[in-house]
Amino acid sequence: MTTQETQPGTEAPTLAFPPGFVWGAATSAYQIEGATTTDGRGTSIWDTFVRRPGRVLNGENADVAIDHYHRYRDDVAMMAELGLTAYRFSVSWPRIMPDGAGEVNQAGLDFYRRLADELLAHGIDPYLTLYHWDLPQALEDAGGWPARDTAKRFADFAACVHQALGDRVRNWSTVNEPWCAAFLGYASGEHAPGRRDPAASIRAAHHLNLAHGLAVQALRAQDAGARIGGSVNLYAVTPATDDPADVEAARRIDGLQNRFFLDALLKGSYPEDVLADLSAVTEIDFIRDGDMETISTPFDTLMVNYYSRFTVSGAPGGSSSAAAAPTGAGSPWPGSEHVSFVNGGRPVTSMGWEIDDLGLYEVLQRVATDYPGIPLIISENGAAFDDVVDGGEIDDQERLAYIDAHLRACHAAIEAGVPLRGYFAWSLMDNFEWAWGYGKRFGLVYVDYATQRRTPKASAHWYAGTIRRGGLRG
Ligand code: NOJ
Repeated sequence: MTTQETQPGTEAPTLAFPPGFVWGAATSAYQIEGATTTDGRGTSIWDTFVRRPGRVLNGENADVAIDHYHRYRDDVAMMAELGLTAYRFSVSWPRIMPDGAGEVNQAGLDFYRRLADELLAHGIDPYLTLYHWDLPQALEDAGGWPARDTAKRFADFAACVHQALGDRVRNWSTVNEPWCAAFLGYASGEHAPGRRDPAASIRAAHHLNLAHGLAVQALRAQDAGARIGGSVNLYAVTPATDDPADVEAARRIDGLQNRFFLDALLKGSYPEDVLADLSAVTEIDFIRDGDMETISTPFDTLMVNYYSRFTVSGAPGGSSSAAAAPTGAGSPWPGSEHVSFVNGGRPVTSMGWEIDDLGLYEVLQRVATDYPGIPLIISENGAAFDDVVDGGEIDDQERLAYIDAHLRACHAAIEAGVPLRGYFAWSLMDNFEWAWGYGKRFGLVYVDYATQRRTPKASAHWYAGTIRRGGLRG
């Protein structure tokens, strides 16, 4: 699944996507906006975390990031030039509610209204994510996601954002990648708030799910016609061998990564085997009557982020996580710390993540089979590579091939009957890659961090051609 194409073409596609297929690119607030103290924005857990020595590679932070807060008009114009039909972004909770609850910062809401207006003026459909990891620090100080109250505050926040933007924005999603927010934030400590407390991380995971469900209800109450998405980051998971210990390891990792969230959101229950794994870590005393009904409140679209496959083993010797964290974090797998992640023998991106487009096909098929009836969108897919600027151009053939291969997997899944409605490349532009700082570039568009100059890479030109054509060649 690779392509020789480097220039956008206008020929009819041989692999055409259905009419109305959503062609987008994604970003998130903290990774691109900068302006972290501008116009009344409050402090988020990431603002705090980046200042802790040793937590982010090279001590980098996102105070300026790629200055999207001031450059959003140019950025939207660039999206339009690429022909995107949709743009997925997140709103910064502390920009809108500096203390996480109570007083609303009108200037923060106004920024997102201007952004949405700009998108609409360019014919680009806004896809708004309510939470992409930048919890107001005040809420972390009050207990963070391990505290149940945070889920309620999130529902209030969702209602507030919808009140201000519901007339412009039709596509909403709740919590981006709850697995990461819970387990990288509170178990491994690789992400903000950097806690290493496996028991707390399990509570956090439940409360992030609860936050999703409460927000779906809050949005629905205000807007019967809103299209609401729930987000998950799914992996293909395979045992290293057919040894029972490896098969058992794969069950555990698939359980916590995939089924824990999918079952909760779409079936209204947690898988028994996963609860049994987790009860070795903490008492499961935080699920209250009615929670699972709330969490599984019907919503419209499952937003799937897909990057790679895990190959796992029950034998010691591999790595304790899929890819080494940059800053020496603990395990993000409460109760399954003994599982090893082994090399599956595929080429890797600069994150060390194995490239596996077949895994995306498998994931899509699996969701459509095991959780039938809900339309799907790939809300993130993409790759970091070490880009080289040569004569002002970036010929990122590896990224182009990655996206091409994964779009082919999407096409094959659609042909096989999977209700896949759209694809968002991660990311529109190079940006702040969390604990990796600016060291990993995922953008279709190159950003020179010294000048903030944006330059579309070969992958961006190729993606623009794919969108124009409505599909892939050959
Ligand atoms: C998932 C996250 O949603 C996004 O913020 C991150 O940059 C990408 N994956 C790449 O790691």
